[in-house]
Amino acid sequence: MKKLRIGTSGLEVSEVSLGCMRIGGMEPAALDKLITTSLDAGIDFYDHADIYGGGKCEEVFAKSIARLNVDRHKLILQSKCGIRSGFFDFSKEHILDSADRILKRLDTDYLDILLLHRPDTLIEPDEVAEAFNTLHESGKVRNFGVSNFNPGQIELLQASLPMKLQVNQLQFSITNTGMIDRGIASNMKHANSIDHDGGILDYCRLKKITIQAWSPFQFGFFEGVFIDHPKFPELNKVLDEICEKYGVTKTGMAIAWIQRHPARIQSVVGTTNFDRVQQVADACKIELSRPDWYAIYRAAGNILP
Ligand SMILES: NC(=O)c1ccc[n+]([C@@H]2O[C@H](COP(=O)([O-])OP(=O)(O)OC[C@H]3O[C@@H](n4cnc5c(N)ncnc54)[C@H](OP(=O)(O)O)[C@@H]3O)[C@@H](O)[C@H]2O)c1
Repeated sequence: MKKLRIGTSGLEVSEVSLGCMRIGGMEPAALDKLITTSLDAGIDFYDHADIYGGGKCEEVFAKSIARLNVDRHKLILQSKCGIRSGFFDFSKEHILDSADRILKRLDTDYLDILLLHRPDTLIEPDEVAEAFNTLHESGKVRNFGVSNFNPGQIELLQASLPMKLQVNQLQFSITNTGMIDRGIASNMKHANSIDHDGGILDYCRLKKITIQAWSPFQFGFFEGVFIDHPKFPELNKVLDEICEKYGVTKTGMAIAWIQRHPARIQSVVGTTNFDRVQQVADACKIELSRPDWYAIYRAAGNILP
């Protein structure tokens, strides 16, 4: 498994992360197998959030790590806070309280990275800075980032912070390519050229903020998986052809396609199936050619000007 650097943090981590949003209801043996397979494949990065399974996902993860006797220091643990029932909350009190609860559930005394989950329009950047400072100085959180933020929102928060934001987690998959469409269609009049995110891809590259791709197998907003879905006949036909050429599965190719982008995006893979984790790890060994990368992009329904 290739490594990538998280922002300017000095953390060198696996280019694929295991997303833990769906593990809450897994049988202990199946979860142990999932984690063992990911570790054996070189995946050392685990993505959580306080709301996943209402906290259950963090708890069962910690239990599995204990059962498997995995050294905490070999893992990179990331979690998120700021989404509450019916509102977003970046208040100092909520961030501090959330971090303590996350640490307790994960049964650890530090988080490698804490993200603010979704932009809270009532954000007071100085208040967030106080919370981050307290967490950093106490050793509870080593690095910070955001999720689903645009460049203006990052600039606003960053201006109050003494530490650099290192991560922005964004929705990205072969069928959710908003952040690259506008660049490819730049200066054209069709819909792909519309700017929905303020140029977040180029902004993060310039500022050395690592983009993490959430829901890399999904289309729409949790509508389903595009692989073998009747809504995407052309994409699946082209994927079949290209996968045969490289000797990987479509599940693997979905991630190899993201990893081919030079922005060094980290994929956050949410499968609970250990065999799919292995397919992803196998596919990350390939180097997808430029024509094949664009062929997959076009087959997903995108046009090149
Ligand atoms: N920051 C944010 O706002 C945000 C939002 C959503 C998610 N996330 C993060 O992103 C991670 C991934 O999100 P996600 O789970 O929604 O997306 P995903 O990785 O795109 O989808 C995984 C789901 O698709 C299913 N699936 C069916 N066929 C599949 C195939 N051929 N290959 C792969 N998966 C297949 C999986 O089932 P099986 O388990 O049976 O394989 C699983 O239920 C989450 O765990 C979380 O860490 C972040």
